[in-house]
Amino acid sequence: MGLSRILPRSQPPPEPVAPEPDETDEPEVATQPTSGPRLHAVPSSEVVGDVEEHAMASVIAFANQKGGVAKTTTTLNLGVALKEAGQRVLIIDLDPQGNLTMSQGMNPDVIERSMFDVLVHRVPISDVIHTVEVDIAVASIDLAGAELALSALIGRERALEKALVEVRDKYDYVLLDTPPSLGLLTINAFVAADGVIVPVQCEYLSLRGLVQLENTLAMVRENLNPAVRVQGIVPTMYDGRTLHAREAIEILQENFGDLVFETRIRKTVRYAEAPVKGSSVLRYDPTRPSAQAYRDLAKEVLDGAQAREHA
Ligand SMILES: Nc1ncnc2c1ncn2[C@@H]1O[C@H](COP(=O)(O)OP(=O)(O)OP(=O)(O)O)[C@@H](O)[C@H]1O
Ligand SMILES: [Mg+2]
Repeated sequence: MGLSRILPRSQPPPEPVAPEPDETDEPEVATQPTSGPRLHAVPSSEVVGDVEEHAMASVIAFANQKGGVAKTTTTLNLGVALKEAGQRVLIIDLDPQGNLTMSQGMNPDVIERSMFDVLVHRVPISDVIHTVEVDIAVASIDLAGAELALSALIGRERALEKALVEVRDKYDYVLLDTPPSLGLLTINAFVAADGVIVPVQCEYLSLRGLVQLENTLAMVRENLNPAVRVQGIVPTMYDGRTLHAREAIEILQENFGDLVFETRIRKTVRYAEAPVKGSSVLRYDPTRPSAQAYRDLAKEVLDGAQAREHA
């Protein structure tokens, strides 16, 4: 994958001439037709004789060391959309900020047992899973000390991979929300993951950080998890009225081709409103294009998984 080619074609895309509003009003039409076939659940388990055999979960890390690009928003809303489509879903909060935990209505400051205890004290992950819209393994304020505590442990990069063994046959998708850094928590996610989905804000400067992310992934592939790869790139906070956003998508497509999902997650305040209610946009505002966008993304993820199965 040519991540190292992500350089300006000649110079950075020009700024749009006209001043633009900060926020895009949500259009009445969705980013993709809403009238197409509804999501179909992919059978996640097969009955072989009398024994029901569950497939192993697909583990996907949502990562970008740049802050505020919609990693957490995408982990939650894609997770809820996959569940709507009939999948068994676990989302895991690996960020000491605890935003994913908060966006499901829980307060990381008062949570007693969290992913910190799972990673550092080997507490079973099932002890920190709460069931809200989807199953969620929560973060607490302690997680801020996890990088330091882990760094002294042997097998520090594999703590999450080991913890997931307990639950890999209980879910179809395990989605990992990572912090905005490429530290030990994110490395743990890369080691445990089958694939990485990279949310990217549709701005030129956001694209440059992808080179660093790919270098880190290459190191992980070489030393710890040969199979992990970028599974897709999600353009987020897209405002199609600006030349800048359209140029950013063009640059992404030139560099990453089919890895760029078709779904564009548009810029709208609804994504910021929903977490205040402890809710995904799919529950907060189920009929709006903002919810449909994540259903479209879920369909793309499921279609990609099916294509790989039949390859
Ligand atoms: N498509 C969108 N349009 C407008 N605002 C959005 C969109 N997606 C997310 N947001 C808002 O932008 C902010 C950052 O989003 P989010 O927390 O998901 O990013 P993040 O990459 O997880 O951030 P961090 O790096 O701090 O973990 C939040 O307030 C969120 O509600
Ligand atoms: Mg986040």
